[in-house]
Amino acid sequence: SNSSLPLSPLSLYNFFHLRYHNMAAKLISTGFRLTTLPENYVRPLSDRPRLSEVSQLEDFPLIDISATDRPRLVINHGVSKATIDEMVTVAHEFFGMPMDEKMKLYSDDPTKTPRLSTSFNVKEEEVNNWRDYLRLHCYPIDKYVHEWPSNPSSFKEVVSKYSREIRELGFKIEELISESLGLEKDYMKKVLGEQGQHMAVNYYPPCPEPELTYGLPAHTDPNALTILLQDATVCGLQILIDGHWFAVNPRPDAFVINIGDQLQALSNGVYKSVWHRAVTNTENPRLSIASFMCPDNGAVISPAKPLWEAKEEEAKPVYRDYTYAEYYKKFWSRNLDQEHCLENFLND
Ligand code: OGA
Ligand code: NI
Repeated sequence: SNSSLPLSPLSLYNFFHLRYHNMAAKLISTGFRLTTLPENYVRPLSDRPRLSEVSQLEDFPLIDISATDRPRLVINHGVSKATIDEMVTVAHEFFGMPMDEKMKLYSDDPTKTPRLSTSFNVKEEEVNNWRDYLRLHCYPIDKYVHEWPSNPSSFKEVVSKYSREIRELGFKIEELISESLGLEKDYMKKVLGEQGQHMAVNYYPPCPEPELTYGLPAHTDPNALTILLQDATVCGLQILIDGHWFAVNPRPDAFVINIGDQLQALSNGVYKSVWHRAVTNTENPRLSIASFMCPDNGAVISPAKPLWEAKEEEAKPVYRDYTYAEYYKKFWSRNLDQEHCLENFLND
């Protein structure tokens, strides 16, 4: 080997990157490509993606927003193409900024927003995930916009517009879900209170060894509803159906709608929060933009009475009453790949 020339940018980078990781996980969206996966990302043999066993999901339930069954993919959703294109562009610009600019926003404290972070919850986890992410609070916009990144310069305007349009879609889907359960149209909206809205802009750089790690390991989302804009061309999202992983390939005109834990609880388990994960690839960076509709912190989450009361004498709600604040605190005190957080809230 050419041991007299160890200072190629890549080897230099590998060296510092590994040094970094001996201390704490830091951003991985560096623009440099690694040739091997740093040790702290390597999953034990029993917990790897086994990508050759993943199937393509061919008949994805496609929901035209004017008619409904179980929301999964939503088209004709009312969020304009220009709004989406601008959001994607500004997100790419953001992650393409120099490392020192990005590190100004870095934090590993999950209670801090906005924050640019990496993996999931680096202070709680043993193995890191191959993801950087920017996390923002998006409602009320006027309360939070001043703390958002001011680089790129169009960021605030573009993300404000996107967040407003997404919120309308979120309300529409909550109405459809309420009606599909035989509840009043505004049932969910009322119970969820003054809903918060968070955004995660996820960036998965090319990964040297996708078989050994995750972008995000299997999880359900802790909030009510997630509206996910997937990368238009790069695959990575997978969902679990009957114990088998299926790839959800991008459809540029559609959002992926994830039922979150709170809609599972409120619907007394009729709607299931979806188990999903993100895997990585060696070729291309992948971007996804998740918008989370979140109950008000003080909202009491209680399985809707009409869904259990009238059923049988013995019928009782599957989940106990709790506030969203209680749930959210529990969620962030854990590692993402522990047991389902909702199991801690079952009725006894
Ligand atoms: C999430 C998530 C999936 C993806 O941010 O909660 O599941 O495709 N993202 O990036
Ligand atoms: Ni998720």
